[in-house]
Amino acid sequence: MTGEPRAVVVLGAGKGTRMKSALPKVLHKIAGRTMISHALDAASVLKPERTVVVVGPGMDNVAAEVAPFDTAIQHGQSGTADALKAAVPSLKGFDQGTVIVLFGDSPFITAETLANMVAAREAGASAVVLGFEPADPTGYGRLVLDDADNLTAIVEHKECTQDQLRIGLCNSGFMALDAATALPLLNAITNDNAKGEYYLTDIVSLCVEAGHKCSVIKASEDELLGVNSRADLARAEKIWQDKRRLEAMDNGVTLTSPESVFFAYDTQLGTDVIIEPHVVFGPNVTVGNNVTIKAFSHLEGAQVGDGADIGPYARLREGSVIGKGARVGNFVETKKCTLGDGAKANHLSYLGDAEIGARANIGAGTITCNYDGFLKSKTWVGEAAFIGSNTSLVAPVSIGDGAITGAGSVITRDVSPDAIAVERGEQKMRPGAATEYRAAKKALRDAQS
Ligand code: UD1
Ligand code: CA
Repeated sequence: MTGEPRAVVVLGAGKGTRMKSALPKVLHKIAGRTMISHALDAASVLKPERTVVVVGPGMDNVAAEVAPFDTAIQHGQSGTADALKAAVPSLKGFDQGTVIVLFGDSPFITAETLANMVAAREAGASAVVLGFEPADPTGYGRLVLDDADNLTAIVEHKECTQDQLRIGLCNSGFMALDAATALPLLNAITNDNAKGEYYLTDIVSLCVEAGHKCSVIKASEDELLGVNSRADLARAEKIWQDKRRLEAMDNGVTLTSPESVFFAYDTQLGTDVIIEPHVVFGPNVTVGNNVTIKAFSHLEGAQVGDGADIGPYARLREGSVIGKGARVGNFVETKKCTLGDGAKANHLSYLGDAEIGARANIGAGTITCNYDGFLKSKTWVGEAAFIGSNTSLVAPVSIGDGAITGAGSVITRDVSPDAIAVERGEQKMRPGAATEYRAAKKALRDAQS
């Protein structure tokens, strides 16, 4: 975007009492990402010169989440105007341009709407307010327009006359303010109202009284949803997921049961991907083309190569890199593990801190013993190696290309390429012993009864 300079202020000092949580409200997550980060991400498209997040005292965890952006502390919760005032020292020297005010608990604002607000502001408004027409306007501030559709005031629900309560156009809380003409009026806002708070909404009538123009931009209710309770959070998650599922299908992904698949905010999917029911994506997953992810799989921090086949019941954890055409079957868990192209781990394995070569075959029940209670160690398996069922690979250990390990072996030393390593007790056999054993046991039981 070009145009005048911009600053973004996100208000997030509210405790979020209705969440009944030790965590500040804006740190609750939707699609694996905190609400405050969703809002900041949308705002980033404005390329703001400065971004300030207003937090309450002691919300160091919010400051850590939004770093390196600035935080300003609002002491006492005396209203949205007071919250914006708390950010003013961080805006020192920002005298020309637009200050965009966002709410940290409204994560769905789109970049497009923000750009529209800024464009309306730069077209000559002192304040641009984002309005919407909710199904139920109860509780929202009402937007009062004149005959020319200019905004003249915002009246909080509690202060509305009967006539004003009939106004359907409501305040979302999002505003774009002219730094030069609107910001200085913050100091003129009083708390002489029903709640005894400093309402930021009063800035509109103050601007109009000072002879400046104010206007309204509209957006849909879904985009402006504010999260106040856990039920709202679940509703927000559903809205986000539904949208993302449609987007995935539009982009060439088959979802057998869309409502049971959950994506993260940053899930990347190729084309001709098939995702079966009940698959969950945590953050940071990239899936290539022609991949099938079978039912009940869980992926996070994983990269899945073209043509790979995952699940059912697979768990790919942080640092999993699955090669082209590789296969991760049921009850296989991978973590910090590279599985080479065409390699297979079909059943019941834990592969952690491991590098598995192309076309290697990991037998059922293979475990990399990567942790001794103190340190993590690595396992290397060479190309086309064959790891027998139920092999324990005690790391650090390296299996050469083309080597074979016998089923049930506990491998503690490196195996050279194309060698066979077997580590198990010698098998003894006593012919007829089972018959003798059964006869002896039966005689014992007969004597007791
Ligand atoms: C506000 C608007 C109302 C609008 C509604 C939309 C005002 C006076 N009213 O009302 O017109 O329809 O949002 O949802 O602005 N916050 C602080 N410090 C404070 C108070 C609030 O940081 O002292 C933050 C909250 O964390 C929240 C946001 O500001 O992110 C909105 O505050 P809230 O108290 O929820 O405002 P509403 O009463 O809902
Ligand atoms: Ca609110």
